[in-house]
Amino acid sequence: MTIPKWLPVILTLMAPFPALAQAAGPVPSLRIAVDKVKAPMSPRLYGLMTEEINFSYEGGLYGELLRNRSFKGEGGFAYVNEDPVYWSPVGGAAIALDGKVPLNKALDLSLRIDAGTASVEKPAGISNSGYWGIPVVPRTVYTAAFFARADGSAGPVTVALRGKDGTVLASATTPALTGQWQRFEVKLTSASQAPSKDNTFSLTTSTPGKIWVQQVSLFGPTYNNRKNGTRPDLMALMAGMKPTFLRLPGGNYLEGDTFAQRFDWKKTIGPTEERPGHRSPWNYWSTDGLGLMEYLQWCEDLKVDPVLAVFAGYALGGEHVSSPEELAPYVQDALDEIEYVTGDVHTEWGAKRARDGHPAPFALTYVEIGNEDFFDHAGTYDKRFSAFYKAIKARYPNLKLISTMPADATPSQAPDLVDEHTYAWGGTEMYDHVNDYDGRSRAGPKVFVGEWATHDGWPMPNMRAALADAAYLIGLERNSDLVVMSSYAPLLANVSQVGGDSRERSMQWAVNLIGYDALKAYGTPSYYVQKMFAENKGDLVLETAGRDIPQLTDSDGKTRPSLFWGATCETSTHHLKLKLVNRRGEAQPVRIALEGVQSMAKTGWLTELSSADPGAGNDIDAPERIVPKTTAISGLSRTFTRTLAAYSVTIVDVDAACGEAQRP
Ligand code: AHR
Repeated sequence: MTIPKWLPVILTLMAPFPALAQAAGPVPSLRIAVDKVKAPMSPRLYGLMTEEINFSYEGGLYGELLRNRSFKGEGGFAYVNEDPVYWSPVGGAAIALDGKVPLNKALDLSLRIDAGTASVEKPAGISNSGYWGIPVVPRTVYTAAFFARADGSAGPVTVALRGKDGTVLASATTPALTGQWQRFEVKLTSASQAPSKDNTFSLTTSTPGKIWVQQVSLFGPTYNNRKNGTRPDLMALMAGMKPTFLRLPGGNYLEGDTFAQRFDWKKTIGPTEERPGHRSPWNYWSTDGLGLMEYLQWCEDLKVDPVLAVFAGYALGGEHVSSPEELAPYVQDALDEIEYVTGDVHTEWGAKRARDGHPAPFALTYVEIGNEDFFDHAGTYDKRFSAFYKAIKARYPNLKLISTMPADATPSQAPDLVDEHTYAWGGTEMYDHVNDYDGRSRAGPKVFVGEWATHDGWPMPNMRAALADAAYLIGLERNSDLVVMSSYAPLLANVSQVGGDSRERSMQWAVNLIGYDALKAYGTPSYYVQKMFAENKGDLVLETAGRDIPQLTDSDGKTRPSLFWGATCETSTHHLKLKLVNRRGEAQPVRIALEGVQSMAKTGWLTELSSADPGAGNDIDAPERIVPKTTAISGLSRTFTRTLAAYSVTIVDVDAACGEAQRP
């Protein structure tokens, strides 16, 4: 998207808080036609969307703990390659980037450490303080690795994790270095100190001499113990959302500001030291340590399918190609990429995947062509989409292809699905989208809401946003015969430095689902809404109707409902799920009639997410201020009344025979 990167932040700050005019009135009643099926629920409705934004991978999900490990320069907007940013000399060493002693073509600079004054009493070398800190937790093994060579021989080299006051928390020493590049790997084991993040990593020698280093790396434990893997707590939070797919690798990150800065997948595979990395459109450097294979392993670890977005000949800055000749190499790249993901080991790219450690092909059903191509003011998407579509379908007829523009923008070729993005600003605008799909013709392509979010709260969504999110999701569930997939965006944000100099911020986009710093992570109220909905999805959407639905007049003068509801059935377990949103600041009694129910239990479960203060959210220091609570409920019958808490999202789960009568 070519809107300025700061715009969402500003809009979020400016968004008026809705003044909720309360309207007393009759008790609203909801009729749930337990035996009348409105639509099948899409099994893939809930998924994840990801890209490198807000230090999502670097300083986030990717397990690398050291910043600027390959010295490519990531000094904010300046992209200076003259200074070894984020590295400091220690013990009297002099350090500089050196283009004359490259490790290889990809990592074509090294860091020269002139440790002429080094001694046992005063070792000299370098230090790094990670991405806003380096986490050290008790009794944990860290793996440090680096390439190094010396002017003649030098070393040994000691790597250490040090606390804020310089205390060594863990250390290990390598053998001596030689005049040739060599890879060294050592394990550092922490003791029983309290978890901390204000730590540094140091690499020093006690022997005077010159040393060159490259790809200086530190990993802690990773999810499923994968080498070059991902951060366990973030993976666990994502797994908790019960996603069914991962849309990758973006977003704007797919496109880049220019063709040269696109996600050029072939440069993101193979040994990490052979990946040059690239500048991302969110203004920092990506090592591409989390490359295509790691995305696929991420899918494998979460047991989800990739929704693979392929670069489609358009970059954010407007650069584009559209003639068949100009498009040909990019179309071929997409075909090669699909072969890398799905081809058997006898294909060129399937064999490459096997050499990269994964002989088994990955499952792939959906391929998205480009991202937000409505920003292509040259109007070339029809030609581009059609070229990619024809070439991909010719080789892979079973793949479902997703367009990033409405179907009438691609008259030459109808897509299988269209990706629609819905960002709503302030706490009320999303309520104008809850009926977006109610009247949509079912004759066109299916819909993938590939990015959506309610923007309210700073820097992350608050309870008011979560209420609107829940109302929106009820609308998607109601139309789940048409809207078959959805994913909130952005997914991840490093919240270590959300303000100040924009070049140094850890977050480029306000309002994201999951926040973290170097040590801790948390889900926002919006995260918990997603989790609650995915856990209680059901497989059939039931017919419902409401009467005496209370209305609120919002600060923009518009009157909108204050109560939203939906009902689904999980047929295999006979569970009826009622989803209810009360966005009033008062408790709301609701009469519920379960029509056509043959048999039902008198007891059930109620899961509630609420906050007395709708402006409140979770944060690093209060990660569970607003979390869902599940309680047993009793006294259920064909008609019952429940009082919904102020500012609440509620799911009532009843053991009831539902849905079967009119299953489509
Ligand atoms: O989610 C952030 C950005 O919003 C995505 O990169 C882009 O696709 C959209 O405009």
